[in-house]
Amino acid sequence: MDDIYSGLAGRMDTRLIGCEINYYPALYSTMDVAREKGLSGDKEGLVIVAGQQTGGRGRQGRTWFSPEGSLALSILCYPEKSWLSELVMCGSLSILDTIEQYGVKEAGIKWPNDVLIGGRKVAGVLIESRVLADTVIFAVIGMGININSNMTGFREMLIAPASLAVEVGRAIDAQGFFHHLMENTDRLYCGLKSGNSLLDQWKSRLVTLGREVSIMHGPSFLRGLARDVTPEGSLLLETESGEEVIISAGDVTLE
Ligand code: BTN
Repeated sequence: MDDIYSGLAGRMDTRLIGCEINYYPALYSTMDVAREKGLSGDKEGLVIVAGQQTGGRGRQGRTWFSPEGSLALSILCYPEKSWLSELVMCGSLSILDTIEQYGVKEAGIKWPNDVLIGGRKVAGVLIESRVLADTVIFAVIGMGININSNMTGFREMLIAPASLAVEVGRAIDAQGFFHHLMENTDRLYCGLKSGNSLLDQWKSRLVTLGREVSIMHGPSFLRGLARDVTPEGSLLLETESGEEVIISAGDVTLE
């Protein structure tokens, strides 16, 4: 696949995100390259984008399938510890805003990071960071988005996959999509840096809240009402026995 991305660096309406864009036709995982760049203190907003990934990873130790036609990228960030937990909100909201620019209806976020269209997963966000005591050394926002993916290659997934192109009924210009995504991410990320929390906006787009859900929590299987989220983005579940449980990570199934 041709490099249609790196030439956009410095030519977008962004302050930080996409100041430099490194494109690789094929990579194991963009997360690994971004981590190396973070360890050497590279520029905030640097984007690593891959034509294809051979070892893409998702949350909870899962693999992430990045076939041709999908977008796989990682963004290097240096957040404060106080808003590190909001990076997942930044990533999922910016993808959501971008797909809605294509006229998509019925899109939302399944807690904490899945972007859905009509209940099917079009994108996922993975946050990795290195934190020492109260200092974030670096963080990486990973985004995997099925923009023009041919759905036939997808193996079994927890949620059925969706492709943006299929949803809107036409091929998506990948460069244009990337450009919108960078601008949306920049707006949200720079807002976070200036002290504007994304919690309320993210919460208002969660399709999970108010629904009956089930989730594995350590060794136990819990079922109950997804009542709310905490300021850090953890899920507040009211179990069938009336107990309130705070869940910081996991995969919920909407009942
Ligand atoms: C998930 O839904 O589990 C998160 C998926 C995140 C996938 C992206 S693709 C770009 C970046 N590189 C990776 O190896 N993973 C993330």
